[in-house]
Amino acid sequence: MKPTILILNGPNLNLLGIREPHIYGRKSLDDVYQSLRERFPEVTFQTFQSNSEGALIDRLHEARGQVMGVVFNPGAYTHTSIALYDAVKAVELHVIEVHLSLPEAREQYRHHSYVTPACQGRIAGLGAIGYQLAVEALLNSTKPM
Ligand code: DQA
Repeated sequence: MKPTILILNGPNLNLLGIREPHIYGRKSLDDVYQSLRERFPEVTFQTFQSNSEGALIDRLHEARGQVMGVVFNPGAYTHTSIALYDAVKAVELHVIEVHLSLPEAREQYRHHSYVTPACQGRIAGLGAIGYQLAVEALLNSTKPM
């Protein structure tokens, strides 16, 4: 059976490609999804984006036991949300945190991530390729939960 991976994106990432392209690049979220499907034909991708914290939590709960892993860009909730940290912990899935930009090289308020300690790993600052690297990491993960 094909492995299934959820690509989960948080607030404002629906505007990828339009939003501050000097920081986030010119690829849309659909371009990112398309590249993933081309690069990993052996994987079934589920995709979900929401600007709402609760919807992201609900989608993580829904993924519990249903996917082999999650690639998660929580957007600005990275820096504010204990609820997302709790959700990632609760679902007991391999979750790789991804950021297009390198938050540590930006404003001070982006330097802290609530989500990182709940994740298996984190890829940041490499642009859209980070999503592909995260999928690669999930497919090769031997880490126990
Ligand atoms: C981001 C970084 C966050 O600080 C920011 O709020 C985002 C995007 C990134 O992918 O670089 O919305 O998660």
